[in-house]
Amino acid sequence: MNQIDLKGRVAVVTGAASGIGRATAKRLGADGAALELWDAAAEGLAETADSTGGTATVLSVADDDAVAAAAAAAAERHGRVDILVNCAGIAGDIAPVAEADPAEWRRVIEVNLTGTFLCCRAVVPHMVRSGYGRIVNIASVAGKEGNPNAAHYSASKAGVITFTRALGKEVAGSGVLVNCITPAVIDTAILGQVTEAQVKYMVERIPLGRMGRPEEVAALIAWLSSEECSFSTAAAFDLSGGRTTY
Ligand SMILES: NC(=O)c1ccc[n+]([C@@H]2O[C@H](COP(=O)([O-])OP(=O)(O)OC[C@H]3O[C@@H](n4cnc5c(N)ncnc54)[C@H](O)[C@@H]3O)[C@@H](O)[C@H]2O)c1
Repeated sequence: MNQIDLKGRVAVVTGAASGIGRATAKRLGADGAALELWDAAAEGLAETADSTGGTATVLSVADDDAVAAAAAAAAERHGRVDILVNCAGIAGDIAPVAEADPAEWRRVIEVNLTGTFLCCRAVVPHMVRSGYGRIVNIASVAGKEGNPNAAHYSASKAGVITFTRALGKEVAGSGVLVNCITPAVIDTAILGQVTEAQVKYMVERIPLGRMGRPEEVAALIAWLSSEECSFSTAAAFDLSGGRTTY
């Protein structure tokens, strides 16, 4: 593993109880960052906190007040927040649009898109105040290409890409850089939320012929979270084994 220097940096990682978020917490911690770990799943979050020494906060990223309070507490504890990685997310039920439940549509948008907005909204002022910040949002190749039977998820991730571009431009010049990643299918627990046929559809479209691993996502996140990432903002980084066509 290459070393990225994050010593002295304070990182908030959402979705840290599992999958990409947990791998990110381990990677950023190994690279020297102090960790603030946010997730709705208390048990998994406690395991990540135990193995990384991070501070665990159980919350829903869709809860305005809880997110604002957690960001204030993190800034109070460390005097700064340098890094925010928005990994919390859900796949939602797989269904064609004509049969989709509007409540499920709203749930997916609320967690994936509004949750990302709320966490950025709460953390950005602390970054702007210190003149330094790195934000990495986890979007998806689905947000670029659209996956059938997952219109809610695809639309939420397209929203995350465009939100990233808008916020990146908004805070350009403040020292805060905002980027997102568009992974293809990665081998994590989220795949348990979708059908086998859906997983097959996604893997078949990857020229490298396999799923990605959470550690491979965490490696790109680590670089995007570092000072070395200095001329990229408002950008979407591909991590799709060749699936992405633009
Ligand atoms: N695994 C993939 O194939 C893949 C591909 C592209 C993008 N992504 C995205 O990567 C991110 C991480 O997913 P993963 O694959 O690690 O899945 P995962 O299910 O392993 O992890 C997601 C985490 O988010 C948490 N979470 C869900 N709703 C929450 C809420 N309201 N508040 C706080 N935490 C909440 C879960 O408890 C879980 O710990 C997600 O945004 C997902 O959409 C995943």
